[in-house]
Amino acid sequence: MGFISGNNKLLSKIATSDGHGENSAYFDGWKAYENDPFHLIKNPNGVIQMGLAENQLCFDLIQEWVVNNPKASICTAEGAQDFKDIAIFQDYHGLPEFRKAVSRFMEKVRGDKVTFDPDHIVMSGGATGAHETLAFCLADPGDAFLVPTPYYPGFDRDLRWRTGVQLFPVVCESSNNFKITKEALESAYEKAQESNIRIKGLLINNPSNPLGTVLDRETLKDILSFINDKNIHLVCDEIYAATVFSQPDFISISEVMQEVNGCNENLVHIVYSLSKDLGFPGFRVGIIYSYNNVVVNCARKMSSFGLVSTQTQFLIASMLSDEIFVENFIAKSSVRLSQRHGLFTKGLAQVGICTLKSNGGLFFWMDLRRLLKESTFEAELDLWHIIINEVKLNVSPGVSFHCSEPGWFRVCFANMDDETMRVALRRIRHFVLQRKGLIEVATKKQCRRSKLEISLSFRRLDDFMNSPFMNSPHSPMSSPMVQART
Ligand SMILES: Cc1ncc(COP(=O)(O)O)c(C=O)c1O
Repeated sequence: MGFISGNNKLLSKIATSDGHGENSAYFDGWKAYENDPFHLIKNPNGVIQMGLAENQLCFDLIQEWVVNNPKASICTAEGAQDFKDIAIFQDYHGLPEFRKAVSRFMEKVRGDKVTFDPDHIVMSGGATGAHETLAFCLADPGDAFLVPTPYYPGFDRDLRWRTGVQLFPVVCESSNNFKITKEALESAYEKAQESNIRIKGLLINNPSNPLGTVLDRETLKDILSFINDKNIHLVCDEIYAATVFSQPDFISISEVMQEVNGCNENLVHIVYSLSKDLGFPGFRVGIIYSYNNVVVNCARKMSSFGLVSTQTQFLIASMLSDEIFVENFIAKSSVRLSQRHGLFTKGLAQVGICTLKSNGGLFFWMDLRRLLKESTFEAELDLWHIIINEVKLNVSPGVSFHCSEPGWFRVCFANMDDETMRVALRRIRHFVLQRKGLIEVATKKQCRRSKLEISLSFRRLDDFMNSPFMNSPHSPMSSPMVQART
């Protein structure tokens, strides 16, 4: 008997299936990075990690606060007197000051337009745990949630893997900037019904990972009337709320709920986390804010399986209660994200690479459709393999976000320092120019024959090719493999 089939009999279905979703391009990219991580000095030709939505642009502010507030860390001389009380506390309601500080922070991030009741705050192990807990509370195995595409690949793991719940796509398209329309919602709902799949809810992510866009008020109202009409739940993942760096402002579902007559609050649940807005994914601070008391009670009991450690709660309570720090952090973070986003997207625009217009998140959605050999997901993965193996950038292909059209890639921009960002930008530009150059040469030959005009700018290409970037010793474009493949 083989090892695998032997294990299939010995172990559970969960243990022997690949429901975790690790076998996707999204996670393959991470592995490629781990095998050959870029370092400015030690490994300048390594893979640059642009597949990780981390917010590392404001750690100087956090560090300064930690140094100035040694009492908040109970393993310091100043904080040691609280050590015992914190170490023995294990109530799954969480420290009252933690729930109060988090709800206040959530209000601030939403421009003080809404209030949150600390008694409705339930802790979880990051937003990951929050999603799973909600799925357990709202649906039974076999039931499904509608999810607009493209969506965060982790949802497949978080909502489905251990719960047996399914996700059903609401197909959104680039022709209207991936807007969630009433028609798309209705059509997905109907298709699910035709397939005898019971829809228990709609999951939205605002601001969106991977798009970096925010939902407008009208769309949020349409969504609320859709879920009320169908009497299904609405889970709103708002974990990128404070990353919005320019107009239009972020609008929380909690704000729009107040404006919609007859909205059944019991159907609405917000997922929040400090992983993105503060940049603390390692602290595993996830929050469920449900307007439904039964869900709050059940989720709280379930939270025993994924509590936030009391030490972390204590530190976060203290940090988030410092309103001056919080205001300064939110303001500076948005300025830095805006600058970084602008540098990247403008640098790409100069060589003709378009990105979806966005104003939030830690990433943008890059349009490489013109670089595909053909408009298929195979061609997208071929291009992605070149980008990862030869250009040495771990960007994530759209197919892993269930995008309905091939050629889109998510690029994370806030998890690296300025110098790494410059190297990454240089690499993408070199690559795209070279690939476009080859496509242009081929097109030019064809056009000469057919006397058609070529629309692409050769002057700009020549300018760039003659620039000092072209001679960079770190340019992956000098790789014979790239030249052979492109
Ligand atoms: C939309 C979305 N939801 C949830 C998560 C998981 O967040 P956490 O680290 O808080 O578990 C992520 C992480 O990237 C995300 O992008």
